[in-house]
Amino acid sequence: MNISAFQHDLLTWYHENKRELPWREDQDPYKIWVSEIMLQQTKVDTVIPYFERFIEKFPTPEALAEAEEQDVLKAWEGLGYYSRARNLQNAVREVVSSYGGKVPDNEKELGDLKGIGPYTKGAILSIAYNQPVPAIDGNVMRVFSRLLMIDEDISLQRTKKLVDEKLRNIISTEDPASFNQAIMELGALVCTPRSPGCLLCPVQAHCEAFSHGREKELPIKAKAKKQREVAYAVLLIRNKENEYLIEKRDEKGLLANLWQFPMVPLAANNLNQVEEWIYKHYGLHVQLNKKHGKLKHVFTHIIWNLDVYEAVTDETMEKKDSVIFAGREKLEERPFPVSHQKMMKYIRE
Ligand code: ADE
Repeated sequence: MNISAFQHDLLTWYHENKRELPWREDQDPYKIWVSEIMLQQTKVDTVIPYFERFIEKFPTPEALAEAEEQDVLKAWEGLGYYSRARNLQNAVREVVSSYGGKVPDNEKELGDLKGIGPYTKGAILSIAYNQPVPAIDGNVMRVFSRLLMIDEDISLQRTKKLVDEKLRNIISTEDPASFNQAIMELGALVCTPRSPGCLLCPVQAHCEAFSHGREKELPIKAKAKKQREVAYAVLLIRNKENEYLIEKRDEKGLLANLWQFPMVPLAANNLNQVEEWIYKHYGLHVQLNKKHGKLKHVFTHIIWNLDVYEAVTDETMEKKDSVIFAGREKLEERPFPVSHQKMMKYIRE
């Protein structure tokens, strides 16, 4: 590859075609950081309104450090992968306490922060601080597997290492911020997964895969394992005051610290034992009523099959922080997973 010609063609295209995105308005390292965390696993169009609301609510590292975690999760509600938000806040708290609120500008300190892996580190150092460090995510791997015609599985660590090594020579030292974003932009707009727009590609002349007619065969990627499916009965348990039983999920694992309606595992498909299960777990006698409907929610490693039921109780409960009865308004103040938000339509009568 003729590196300087490649850089020139790529950067010229980028400057003429780049999208105006809210995190491209300045080079504030905190905003770049927030945007890059949000953009992991999530499309640009989805991220834009979340990013704008988040920055309005938490405009500085200090503001985010001081916020309640529940408010941060509420601002993240619907984006998924909530540990991103919790790690981001923890790391920002560390930046405020250890670095006076200034986001570190070196690989060592940045990389030691919670939730900052090699990708985020490279993105912050290049975009905010103009340092020639690669930022390699799945899209960048796809683009370079084609440009360099790499016949290795791109999900393997050693393939990422290979691309990282090659990229350190290819990245522009004059404008690494534009270079990395140009690669991302190329992956989003031209070098797309299934039918890459090679005829319009600004770096077609530099692409090994295109010159061999192999652009559609690459990247090579091992198939992900199938998700495990689990079934639950979810109960919307109403008391006499028209309030609903909700609980805070565990502080570890899937959807940590989010709120939900009680979920009863249906391993044996045995509906008869649902009321008993509720009594055992919450000390509450409930009566199961009609089924509202079904919901399916697909996560990375698991699929929830949810049967949503109406239930009633005339009992009250001992006061606890993590299990409460709450009316409509109180419910909506708390962060819920998308699947449980969808159930709220059943209590909107
Ligand atoms: N995807 C990940 N980071 C991005 C960025 N800074 N701009 C556009 N898309 C991205």
